[in-house]
Amino acid sequence: MTPTDDGATGAALRSSAWFADRGKNGFIARSHLRAAGLTDEAFDGRPAVAIVNSWSDLTPCHSHMRGLAEAVRRGVLAAGGVPFEVPTMSLGEPFMRPTTMLYRNLMSMDVEETLRANPVDAAVLLGGCDKTTPAQLMGACSVDVPTLVVTGGPMVSGSFRGRTIGSGTDLWRFSEDVRAGRMSEAEFAEAESCIHRSAGHCMTMGTASTMACLTEALGMQLSGGAAVGAVDSGRARVAERSGRRAVEMAAAGPSPSTILTRQAFENAIRVNAAVGGSTNAVLHLLAVAGRVGVRLDLDDVDRLARDTPLLVDLKPSGRFLMSEFADAGGLPAVLRELWPMLHTDALTVDGTTVGENVRHAGRYLPEVIRGRDDPVLPPDSGTAVLRGSLCPRGAVIKQSAASPALMRHRGRAVVFDDVETYQKAAEDPALDVTADSVLVVRNAGPRGYPGMPEIGNLPIPVRLLEEGVTDMVRISDARMSGTSYGTVVLHVAPESAVGGPLALVRDGDPVVLDVPARRLDLDVDDAELEHRRREWSPPTPRHDRGYSRMHVEHVLQADQGADLDFLVGASGHDVPRTPF
Ligand code: FES
Ligand code: MG
Repeated sequence: MTPTDDGATGAALRSSAWFADRGKNGFIARSHLRAAGLTDEAFDGRPAVAIVNSWSDLTPCHSHMRGLAEAVRRGVLAAGGVPFEVPTMSLGEPFMRPTTMLYRNLMSMDVEETLRANPVDAAVLLGGCDKTTPAQLMGACSVDVPTLVVTGGPMVSGSFRGRTIGSGTDLWRFSEDVRAGRMSEAEFAEAESCIHRSAGHCMTMGTASTMACLTEALGMQLSGGAAVGAVDSGRARVAERSGRRAVEMAAAGPSPSTILTRQAFENAIRVNAAVGGSTNAVLHLLAVAGRVGVRLDLDDVDRLARDTPLLVDLKPSGRFLMSEFADAGGLPAVLRELWPMLHTDALTVDGTTVGENVRHAGRYLPEVIRGRDDPVLPPDSGTAVLRGSLCPRGAVIKQSAASPALMRHRGRAVVFDDVETYQKAAEDPALDVTADSVLVVRNAGPRGYPGMPEIGNLPIPVRLLEEGVTDMVRISDARMSGTSYGTVVLHVAPESAVGGPLALVRDGDPVVLDVPARRLDLDVDDAELEHRRREWSPPTPRHDRGYSRMHVEHVLQADQGADLDFLVGASGHDVPRTPF
């Protein structure tokens, strides 16, 4: 089974187990591809590259990905490889119920098994909408064939009545404006056609842009790839170059396990803080690290984010959008500015190190990407990790999106057992709540909801909105959209559905938030809590069959990335048994 007669490949590729066999197995493999029009050249030992496409009509952020796949295909062919475009599950953030996060791990399984079961020597992953990028990366890591990520790129900026508007962030504002009577329903309806204007992922620094930046920071996406607009011709060039690189990498590596070292994750955590990235990135980085066996925990996230300044002035924390970020130099400009804080010798899919990639990177719009000596916010403005009697295994808060006045706060809990009950109560002008109250919603964690939906940025109760209140402390075991803002404590672990202290909070309990001290405590004495714990019984799981049952039975808590317990680690890319 030795391939190679053209010198393009040195060692036997795994696809040769399918194509080089001269018996009936090889006959079957080749014969069925001949039926698709392939000729002898496809079977002469050249690398087989999977173009893993998450295109779907129900993921509008990916509506251009058939075109991008064609660009990857050109690159693969030009470099002497054989491209195979393969569909997998897709996760359309705007549609999937109860939440795309329930399906991130399922998509990762689809990607993993598709790559391993098939004649694949290298992979190019086409994703972009929030959970698709981490799902693909997790799956590819568990197979560990050479892999590049090509994210879809941000969509064109929104524009409404002469103002630039950003996905998510401005919608949340508009929605609160309508509830407070500052915006008419007609204006709200008009904005619907103005905010999302092209293919591509959300163009604020939400989860999609964050994960695009982090795949580049990790070294898994070509340098400069993250920020290029979805409909910019540069996006197709990134895709084509990625196809070419995949062919080289099939023969010579590196594989994800070589690139994704602890240093790579440390770089990514710093970058997440510097770009004002999404809290969701914490979950995804922990989950990806678990797949490649890198020990990473919430303390690492806090420690590395703590001394990193916020350099990028993008919504939701700042003013601009991804197109300005791209014009300002994109992620290479950020990495160049963070240089002394990074592991610049970390390897990337470019075949070079982070340092080599960005040594000469330009920073062109200093108001969009600021210098270290003139940051948007000083160090310790990113995602902070809290601990305390309310969250013994951790919780997160995005400081740059929170109100400085609420970072130290003591208030009485107003507690809701589920988000639907809260949503109804929030519209009741008689709700017993003040601006100092602490809103608590539970049963919204990985197991309890299930799937940890993005409901953590609870809408402000209407009665407070009318008084002009725009922020208050909110606590849950849920997530929030990367485009959201507010003094919102998320990912409380352990979650309430498994008996975490969140399950024991009652109306009126004093809750103490102290972000500078990294504490979140319930000021109720231990005897009383013990009494409540004995009275507590777990909620009945809502899902008794199918994938959601598997998820509920196996999902890990947020502090471990909410992967499924049996998916942690890798099974490698050995060719599975051949049955005929
Ligand atoms: Fe797809 Fe925002 S909805 S990235
Ligand atoms: Mg989102």
